[in-house]
Amino acid sequence: MKRVTIRVPATTANLGPGFDAFGCALSLYTDVTFEETDCGLEITGCDEAFTGPDNLAYTSYCAVLNTMSEEVRGVRIHIDAHIPICRGLGSSAALLVAGAMGANVLRGNKLSTQGLLNITNAMEGHPDNLAPAFYGGLTASMVDGGLPVCVSFPLHPGWEFLALIPEFNLPTTLARSVLPEQVNRADAIYNISHGALVLKALELGDEKLLRNAMQDRLHQRYRKKLIPDYEKIEALVRTTGAAFCLSGAGPTLLCITRNPGLQEKLENKLNAVTEHSWQMLPLHVEFQGAHIISEEWNLE
Ligand code: HSE
Repeated sequence: MKRVTIRVPATTANLGPGFDAFGCALSLYTDVTFEETDCGLEITGCDEAFTGPDNLAYTSYCAVLNTMSEEVRGVRIHIDAHIPICRGLGSSAALLVAGAMGANVLRGNKLSTQGLLNITNAMEGHPDNLAPAFYGGLTASMVDGGLPVCVSFPLHPGWEFLALIPEFNLPTTLARSVLPEQVNRADAIYNISHGALVLKALELGDEKLLRNAMQDRLHQRYRKKLIPDYEKIEALVRTTGAAFCLSGAGPTLLCITRNPGLQEKLENKLNAVTEHSWQMLPLHVEFQGAHIISEEWNLE
């Protein structure tokens, strides 16, 4: 029997104007262990509600085995998740990526990372969290002919990220349901132009350019109504000079700065603008994508 543990980083998707396209891996992780057994499916380490066959790590594990025409045997899956669920930090993508990599490693690495990305993208629907979870760092992705195409972008090493994570969650399905089907031309131009400059600002480490470019007209203005105190918190963060955006579909809010001490600057003031409890979590870019952290073979 074989056992492997896969570590997958958290990811922040969109980065403001890069809706469904940009993503960046962050220094917060979910570790998932896979061990083949003769005893069916067993999932531990998570809420009872997620221990069935619809668990995302298991569904992508099975999808990879099916693609390889390999038999799905019994498997024990242990989840050690530090990425909070339904907070816009890529917890679902992390499970999909872990399941796909776990199956691939246990059955001889027959598929490439692009192959695993193709399979998981078909399940997730958009690659903006998946790409940085697989590759690490800053990525932009498109879906062309049904298949994801992802590229990495350089990032200045001086950026500091501060995630403001509320006690309430926001399901992505709800956060997508409030978006209009159609966008107007001015808004499309706004996002394309701002998105291009966000990538350059992140590469150069130019905080002023990032602050100005990291603005969006396609999703944040609709979603902020679902997040209590969004506007007050954004106004507060902007007084510090940091760039600000919604992390993925939310509700986590993300501050990006070159200046140390942002957390201290916000510490007392945050309580004055919101009655909710927001955890402030300092993070940095994770340049390493999903990888094996332990591997054992010939277990008794
Ligand atoms: N790009 C996605 C969204 C990320 O904003 O809905 C969440 O899956």
